[in-house]
Amino acid sequence: MNKEIVVSGIRSTGDLHLGNYFGAMKNYVKMQHEYPCFFFVADYHSLTTHPDPAALKNNVYKVLAENIACGLDPEKVTLYVQSDIPEIPELYLMLNMMAYKGELEKTASFKEKARSQPDNVNAGLLTYPTLMSADILIHKGQYVPVGKDQEQHLEMARNFAQRFNHRYGETFPEPLAFNFGTQLVKIPSLDGSGKMSKSVNENATIYLSDSDDIILRKIKKAKSDQGPAEPNSEMPDYIQNLFLLMELVSAADTVEKFKQDYNECNIRYGDLKIQLADDMVRFVAPIREKTHALKNDTALLQKIMKDGKEKARASASSTLAEARKNMGIHYYC
Ligand code: ADP
Ligand code: TRP
Repeated sequence: MNKEIVVSGIRSTGDLHLGNYFGAMKNYVKMQHEYPCFFFVADYHSLTTHPDPAALKNNVYKVLAENIACGLDPEKVTLYVQSDIPEIPELYLMLNMMAYKGELEKTASFKEKARSQPDNVNAGLLTYPTLMSADILIHKGQYVPVGKDQEQHLEMARNFAQRFNHRYGETFPEPLAFNFGTQLVKIPSLDGSGKMSKSVNENATIYLSDSDDIILRKIKKAKSDQGPAEPNSEMPDYIQNLFLLMELVSAADTVEKFKQDYNECNIRYGDLKIQLADDMVRFVAPIREKTHALKNDTALLQKIMKDGKEKARASASSTLAEARKNMGIHYYC
């Protein structure tokens, strides 16, 4: 077992999809055997978009069930819910004192949200990166398995850790976005615009809960064209995206065959899509079935949450005590 601490979270904002799996969860499952790991459901982070209170519980249970269905072993890792750890908002408050309005306003995710929900540009959105930093630093996390869209947030977490250390003495390591030494992953949406995402572009996102028919329908509708006019042409990005998805779920020789067909101008996108859909179904169906069984096992999920909460709080309270002491908040000793 390595000693570096791993922390990562997924928001409880809807069904998990291929982007969540290949950008984050696949690495969680691998890392659980090699590092001490803290994985959590980021339910506080989902509040920035004001979800319906009645939907929250179901969403939290679903994310937990999907994590376990993908192979996460709650006996091996600490699996918990963010709002069960009061030390996180306390550290968030402290880190907000290190975060400047200008840099928070410049964050790409904030600018994007301010554009897409102009009527709800709340302070939680602005300070999203400080809450995320608190999530990581509360366990002195060093490796953070995330998709490419989180790179900037990790850079901010390093800045906040550095500032805290500079001002109050060495307290936090500087966390790194982690993908086993290779580029962070971005799973594109099926319509060729942007990334797969929980709440945007549902027809161009494949969810881990999609039925076989829906997967087939979505893949059939993915953007393609007449095929290349000349051998060895450069692929348009929407075709590259189809190959990228195929590389994730299909056998290497299958991908190779279609690439060769493309280069020789023999490609039939109808066939490629059917093959991709078949392989995708083979990948998604077992996760979907397992999630379905787990999601309704309330007793088991509650036990997992409680055990996770206990382990996560032990780690969090020790870091918080150190941070408070270093800041000078220790009046009784
Ligand atoms: P979403 O963006 O779908 O709402 P989250 O924000 O909760 O999902 O993201 C959870 C994890 O999944 C993060 O590590 C994020 O980087 C990763 N992720 C989300 N979408 C993608 C994608 N399309 N490609 C790669 N990783 C992704
Ligand atoms: N911000 C992440 C996302 O939108 C979710 C998240 C919250 C997270 N806290 C985290 C990821 C801590 C890694 C570590 O995808």
